[in-house]
Amino acid sequence: MISRVVLNLKMHKTSGLLDAYAAMNIPCDVLLPFPYLGQAAERFQGTQLRIGAQNVSEFSHGAYTGQVSLEILQDIGVSLVMVGHQEVPDSTKVVMKKVQIAQQAGFDIIYCLGGKSVADLDHQLAGLSSMDGLTFAYEPDGSIGTQQSASIESINESVDYIRARIRQHFSSNVQDIPVLYGGSVNNKNCQDILGNTSVDGVLIGGASLNLPVLEEVLNICKRF
Ligand code: PGA
Repeated sequence: MISRVVLNLKMHKTSGLLDAYAAMNIPCDVLLPFPYLGQAAERFQGTQLRIGAQNVSEFSHGAYTGQVSLEILQDIGVSLVMVGHQEVPDSTKVVMKKVQIAQQAGFDIIYCLGGKSVADLDHQLAGLSSMDGLTFAYEPDGSIGTQQSASIESINESVDYIRARIRQHFSSNVQDIPVLYGGSVNNKNCQDILGNTSVDGVLIGGASLNLPVLEEVLNICKRF
């Protein structure tokens, strides 16, 4: 089995990397700055790569200067969106609204969960009305961009907690609760994270920009 791999290119000038990504022989989601989405869609045709957006407006359309709606994303062929990333200054309420409208629009959604405690996780999970389209990305405070990934114990504890809470929340047998880990994933810690936790894959930021490091990470992901 190949672990799910999501690359978050944040606000980096990444047009120069698209060809290198296209040459990678692994199914991979690439979350790009909005202006590169169309270009990347063309370059990634016939590959195993899928493009996604790093954020979306909470509004469906209208006079919201500088924002991009789900409808616009759909119009250019995007069906994957990330919400709730720590670097986006949204309230939990706004994040939940984005999750819900993306679910209604049939998007695949990467919902970033984080914080410092299980109370924070509870807060972020409380408003969910279904698991439609959802993959969670567990990214605890202090782990993003720090070279300090969370410990294996704390990843396992939190991921188990998320899955248990979801099962309890929907009081049903939700079979599949995909959870990724994100936060300083690199070629040194990836094997440990995938081999010793129950995560379904990784969300990679900084290491996406360093091709030799990324190649090593992807080779590890192919084994899990
Ligand atoms: P990082 O970013 O890998 O650079 O810590 C992860 C993320 O932003 O999701």
